[in-house]
Amino acid sequence: MILVSILGFLLSIASFTLGLCNGNLNVPCIESERQTLLMFKKDIDDPWNLLSSWACEGDCCNWTGVVCDNLTDHVHELHLAGYSDQKLGGKHLSHLDLSRNNFKGLQIPSFLGSLRGLRYLDPSDAGFNGTIPHQLGNLSSLRYLDLSYNLEGEIPDSLGNLCKLTSFDLSSNNFMGRVSEIFESSIPVSLGNLSGLYELVIEHNSFESVVSEVHFTNLTRLKIFIANENSLTLKTSPDWVPPFQLVELSLSSWRLDPSELPTWLQSQKYLSALNMSNTGISGTIPTWFWNIFSYGGENYVDLSYNQLSGEVPNIVSANW
Ligand SMILES: *[C@@H]1O[C@H](CO)[C@@H](O)[C@H](O)[C@H]1NC(C)=O
Ligand SMILES: *[C@@H]1O[C@H](CO)[C@@H](O)[C@H](O)[C@H]1NC(C)=O
Ligand SMILES: *[C@@H]1O[C@H](CO)[C@@H](O)[C@H](O)[C@H]1NC(C)=O
Ligand SMILES: *[C@@H]1O[C@H](CO)[C@@H](O)[C@H](O)[C@H]1NC(C)=O
Ligand SMILES: *[C@@H]1O[C@H](CO)[C@@H](O)[C@H](O)[C@H]1NC(C)=O
Ligand SMILES: *[C@@H]1O[C@H](CO)[C@@H](O)[C@H](O)[C@H]1NC(C)=O
Ligand SMILES: *[C@@H]1O[C@H](CO)[C@@H](O)[C@H](O)[C@H]1NC(C)=O
Repeated sequence: MILVSILGFLLSIASFTLGLCNGNLNVPCIESERQTLLMFKKDIDDPWNLLSSWACEGDCCNWTGVVCDNLTDHVHELHLAGYSDQKLGGKHLSHLDLSRNNFKGLQIPSFLGSLRGLRYLDPSDAGFNGTIPHQLGNLSSLRYLDLSYNLEGEIPDSLGNLCKLTSFDLSSNNFMGRVSEIFESSIPVSLGNLSGLYELVIEHNSFESVVSEVHFTNLTRLKIFIANENSLTLKTSPDWVPPFQLVELSLSSWRLDPSELPTWLQSQKYLSALNMSNTGISGTIPTWFWNIFSYGGENYVDLSYNQLSGEVPNIVSANW
């Protein structure tokens, strides 16, 4: 596995050049951005030398595939898809970590979709903005995708093809829309197809709609579902037996329908973290509830900001 990690590499700090080469200060291209592009080049097989213009000297705004904003001189777009389809390799690149950089509002480059060997892609918290390129739907080997902390815009339908995905983080973006659309495969945008999904994180977005039992039908391997702070409603029937066994469930600020502690929680054998704060639930906490957390290990339960009543039995506190 080729490990590419420019974690912590801050584009905004021009003096942090990673010792690649010294830039020429007489050109419009922003030095720190040139260094980032050179990092990209280093990690991509380029047997045809298509990126020969990507050199230590010269104006990086004049490099193949690079488009700079002609007012600010910031690198604005990377157009490498056309080259990458045939000639730029990356077959052996399996792990690409671009997190915690500052790409200053650049769109996630669509050529990443041609790095077919990728199993791990993390462009999180990297200052990307704009639409997520639909080409990412071609990364058929992808197991891990973290799009958190960027990417106004939309979630492309093609991500429904990432059938090997086990961990998908969409949290803290401005993604909007009806979350049911990302679960339903009747509708092309589909997480409902992602039956390998183990961890799904969609908290702090602007999703709204009603999520129901049917949306979880294929999510048989789901262990971690973190979805706090959205405008969502979970509608389930009292006799629902979910297809998953969750370890962590966080639905803070959702509405629950019916507005009580869901009886299906009784089916969960390994739950160790539950956040149902501010979900508008009321009633007496049933005794079975405390037995859910008897599996062991450290547990937490957050039921704050609701209208619940009842006794917290002594017996469980020993296990916590
Ligand atoms: C841009 O690239 C072309 C061809 O590669 C070259 O002739 C030209 O001098 C370059 N311009 C600048 C400003 O670097
Ligand atoms: C910026 O560049 C584009 C493409 O070369 C051009 O059409 C546009 O007029 C330029 N804008 C300014 C403000 O120079
Ligand atoms: C992202 O793009 C939108 C639309 O172009 C723009 O309004 C917004 O300011 C951008 N945000 C960042 C962080 O670049
Ligand atoms: C995926 O790759 C195929 C070629 O293998 C191409 O025709 C198609 O447009 C690509 N799809 C996306 C979403 O990029
Ligand atoms: C969902 O899976 C079905 C059956 O495997 C497939 O036909 C469909 O294209 C998939 N949808 C998406 C969006 O991947
Ligand atoms: C579950 O997966 C099957 C096969 O891929 C698909 O046909 C069906 O629509 C999926 N169901 C949901 C709710 O996504
Ligand atoms: C539950 O979620 C809310 C909202 O995200 C958060 O403020 C709170 O700290 C969480 N509770 C626990 C115990 O983590």
